[in-house]
Amino acid sequence: AGKGLKDYYKNYFPIGVAVNMAAISGPQAALIGREFNSVTPENDMKMGLIHPSEHQYNWTKADAIVEFAQLHHMKIRGHNLLWHNQAPAWMFRDSSGNLVTKQVLLQRLKDHITTVVKRYKGKIYAWDVVNEAVDDSADKYLRNSLWYQICGEDFIAKAFEYAHEADPDAQLFYNDYNSEIPSKRDRICRLLKSLIDAKVPIDGVGMQGHWSLISPTPARIREAIDKYAALGIRIQITELDITVRSKQPANGAGVAPLPVDSGYTPQLAQQQADRYQSVFKIFRDYKKVITGVTFWNVSDRYSWLDSRGGGLAGGAAAGGPAGKTIVKAYPLLFDVNLQRKQAYWAVTRF
Ligand code: XIL
Repeated sequence: AGKGLKDYYKNYFPIGVAVNMAAISGPQAALIGREFNSVTPENDMKMGLIHPSEHQYNWTKADAIVEFAQLHHMKIRGHNLLWHNQAPAWMFRDSSGNLVTKQVLLQRLKDHITTVVKRYKGKIYAWDVVNEAVDDSADKYLRNSLWYQICGEDFIAKAFEYAHEADPDAQLFYNDYNSEIPSKRDRICRLLKSLIDAKVPIDGVGMQGHWSLISPTPARIREAIDKYAALGIRIQITELDITVRSKQPANGAGVAPLPVDSGYTPQLAQQQADRYQSVFKIFRDYKKVITGVTFWNVSDRYSWLDSRGGGLAGGAAAGGPAGKTIVKAYPLLFDVNLQRKQAYWAVTRF
């Protein structure tokens, strides 16, 4: 079978990967089985996909991913139970198209979470319960989503309570991006602390980890982990990818600017390997509090960042609308032919 990432990290944390239907069949499936011991469905458990209308659930793809993971003895992280993106329009409206009341929305949320979490009870060990509820601007707190507009901040605690009721053994996470930027980090901490103080069942925080060669700095990553750990909760890196595209050169060292895709040069390969080595060193240093590291996609053949300016155009990390131009991000440990990259060897030599 050969050694995989999961074997190098067996004394540290599970190594996961986000998958879709294409990834769990064909040549990628063999790679996943060899390298990873955890999976996250990239899209297929999101509310809009799994629950497209009030009385209809689409289980087919989610079930197939769960079956694949079980067959390969992998852990499964559920993603996600509540998000402002990829949420179905029906959830927020009545039959005349008006926004529903808070009471109706919370009842629908409860039905959704209860149904989904119970279906996979005992199979999914951790859930991203609430995704990206904190605003990006330093002068705002929570994102002004329809969830927030209709419910105020209560929807967050409720989502965790419903999930805990449906599966008391599942670990429940709050998940967000740019969670190392001090102002956003502090607002995420404020939210986490308010939940913990109110005895809401929350086990951890997911730092998505959509990073570049130059940001966030290693110091910022360590500071963020320290702050989250000080709250007494676990931390997972839930959506790691490191794009080689950047708006600014790294120390004048020739990182390709947008919108040009200059390909994946040996110089970029080296910079990316160094960067991956540095962040995995941090993860290993924090093995007492980091309980999982998941990559967002399998290989550079397909990354969600490619249709988002290589990861740096228009709110990419927020899952904003995909652009038309493909700018390849080359953000993962396996190349377009599914072969191990220099960055792979950089994270496995320690
Ligand atoms: C992304 C998927 O990878 C894309 O296929 C989809 O079009 C949009 O969502 N933060 C998250 C993930 O929490 O759910 C997002 O996944 C990436 C950003």
